Amino acid sequence: MQLGENLAILRGVPAGTVPLVYIDPPFNTGKRRTAAALATKAVDGGAAGDRTGFGGRRYASATVGEERGYADAYPDLPAFLEPRLREAHRILAPNGSLYVHLDPRESHYVKVLLDQIFGRASFLNEIVWAYDYGGRPKRRWPAKHDTILFYAKDPADYVFDTDAIEREPYMAPGLVTPEKRALGKLPSSVWWHTIVSPTGKEKTGYPTQKPVAVLKRIVAASSRPGDLVLDFFAGSGTTGAAALALNRRFWLIDENPQAVAVMVERFAGIGGVEWVGTEGGQASDSDGPRQERASDVP
Ligand SMILES: C[S@@+](CC[C@H](N)C(=O)[O-])C[C@H]1O[C@@H](n2cnc3c(N)ncnc32)[C@H](O)[C@@H]1O
Repeated sequence: MQLGENLAILRGVPAGTVPLVYIDPPFNTGKRRTAAALATKAVDGGAAGDRTGFGGRRYASATVGEERGYADAYPDLPAFLEPRLREAHRILAPNGSLYVHLDPRESHYVKVLLDQIFGRASFLNEIVWAYDYGGRPKRRWPAKHDTILFYAKDPADYVFDTDAIEREPYMAPGLVTPEKRALGKLPSSVWWHTIVSPTGKEKTGYPTQKPVAVLKRIVAASSRPGDLVLDFFAGSGTTGAAALALNRRFWLIDENPQAVAVMVERFAGIGGVEWVGTEGGQASDSDGPRQERASDVP
């Protein structure tokens, strides 16, 4: 795992060496993305308290722990991504794949950019990850999906292991044979999956954390056991968690020390994890090696 600005690091990676790259860059929401309160606790609130406790005593809710977040406002997100996507294309193995996770604010512009970098024939899927959570505006359809663009470096030769993909129940099980029903169906390009529950045990406290199940589907289909999976906008390290669960090696890069601190907690006790440019999740005084480093799955 590595603390640092990704473009500088990517430039040091040898060409043609990485089998799978998944990235979930900032979506350009125009806001700073922050985690919801890490925890709330009741403190003595006197008359101003917003909660009533035993014996009618008034308490106020207070947030404990630091707020975690990152800036998500870019005058031109495709222009920011372009050199990084060119590096991703260069470092991908000849049969490697790239997944780019965005939402409809920028996905169409980045699709055009990726078509230019990879060639249109290399575009394999637009995956729609649909969820159902949060507010519902009344003046348009509530936007409840992200877009994941899937490209192969060589559309004639890439890893896609349908046997490794977990099947799901048919939507209309009565319309298929009992054998097919028992086997389940291969997921299509539309994936229904809930967001990371704000109260569930998967939650790390880092904003915009993606569900590990979504990442596991990608890693299972588009890499082989032992392969290296790279995420250079790593956040809380969800890609690493999926890779670890599926016996792949992983390399996670983020420029935000708070993200690295979350990853330190997430991968605590996992053998073979190497930290570059950090000391236990804090930026170190030394530059740290800039060359390719991957943590080895125990
Ligand atoms: C959408 S979040 C990733 C969330 C992650 N997929 C997860 O499940 O937790 C994007 C991340 O990109 C990082 N980032 C933005 N610009 C970067 C850059 N130039 N180099 C490295 N990391 C960057 C931010 O710090 C942020 O953590």
